[in-house]
Amino acid sequence: MDPSSRMTVLITGACGLLGSHLMAALSGHYRVVGIDRNPWWGDEPLEVVQADLQEPRVLQRLVSMIAPRIVIHCAALANVDACEQNPALAYAVNTHMTRDLVCSLPSGCRVVYISTDGVFKGNKPFVTEEDLPCPRTVYGRSKVQAEWEVMLGTEDHLIVRTNFYGWSSGRKQTSGEWLYTSLASQQPFVLFRDFFFTPIYVVDFVKRLILLLESDYRGIIHLGGRDRLSKYQFGLLLAQAAGLSTQHVREGSIDEVPLIASRPKDMSLKSERFVQLTGLDVPDTVSGVRRFVADRLRPLSLRFTATEMETTQSYQ
Ligand SMILES: NC(=O)c1ccc[n+]([C@@H]2O[C@H](COP(=O)([O-])OP(=O)(O)OC[C@H]3O[C@@H](n4cnc5c(N)ncnc54)[C@H](OP(=O)(O)O)[C@@H]3O)[C@@H](O)[C@H]2O)c1
Repeated sequence: MDPSSRMTVLITGACGLLGSHLMAALSGHYRVVGIDRNPWWGDEPLEVVQADLQEPRVLQRLVSMIAPRIVIHCAALANVDACEQNPALAYAVNTHMTRDLVCSLPSGCRVVYISTDGVFKGNKPFVTEEDLPCPRTVYGRSKVQAEWEVMLGTEDHLIVRTNFYGWSSGRKQTSGEWLYTSLASQQPFVLFRDFFFTPIYVVDFVKRLILLLESDYRGIIHLGGRDRLSKYQFGLLLAQAAGLSTQHVREGSIDEVPLIASRPKDMSLKSERFVQLTGLDVPDTVSGVRRFVADRLRPLSLRFTATEMETTQSYQ
């Protein structure tokens, strides 16, 4: 099919961890255009405009030129400590930029906003879409306010709360890359036994997000992994999948470490609504970390060709 006749999807933050995987996965199905202030780094040439979305005039000009039918908004200041240290920047990037983007879109454009498990207080396991947000951090507050901007700005919206891990460009280290590198380096480090989450491998997340894009669902939805586990348990499973030693890993408490932003202790999400809506399960952690390890040296464009079954079986 002529790519120009296909529906246009705009991905903001196209060169970040999630945005780059979305670019690679969606480019076979849609006409995909990315915007990011950094250069495109994937193994296949894709259409990415290098621009700063905080410039309202630039934003408006690009949106009217690209004329998207769907926008997946991934551009953000996603570093929790950086947000705490510079709240003005956090609100400018996460909240105000989201508002300006939504306002600039043509009518009939579906907005997919990527939000976070960090919008909750973190005092109970497996929060659902019915639970009320109560963020502890500047990052969480700036993201929940962005959710409101999206809800107020357009009816055709999808707000996806998640927590994913994966391999990115190498320009800045992702949490998954940090964990893998720390395990591989055999230097002593601490992982928390009392900090819980429901992580999902970014490739598994993207495959499921595509189902949501193509559904009629509007509103908030949680999309994380199946298992609730501590950062320590997650580290052990990753080490096992990668064949790395855990001799240098110390099990510690988040209370022992002075952090710039005080994290919610339980960030686990219940993804039941997603499962009921799509009929597709969310992945378990062991199979997710196996795919993460298998994809380490695989070019970005090939991470979507290996099926979940293949990468899981190759480790059995
Ligand atoms: N990573 C996670 O586990 C996680 C969990 C929950 C939710 N999320 C959400 O998921 C989304 C994507 O996260 P991610 O981990 O993929 O983030 P990321 O790797 O930091 O990617 C975001 C990209 O957007 C770019 N960007 C930021 N501000 C921009 C601007 N004004 N103009 C143009 N480009 C801009 C960033 O460039 P710079 O790097 O130069 O700033 C970066 O390339 C975010 O909304 C985040 O809040 C992430």
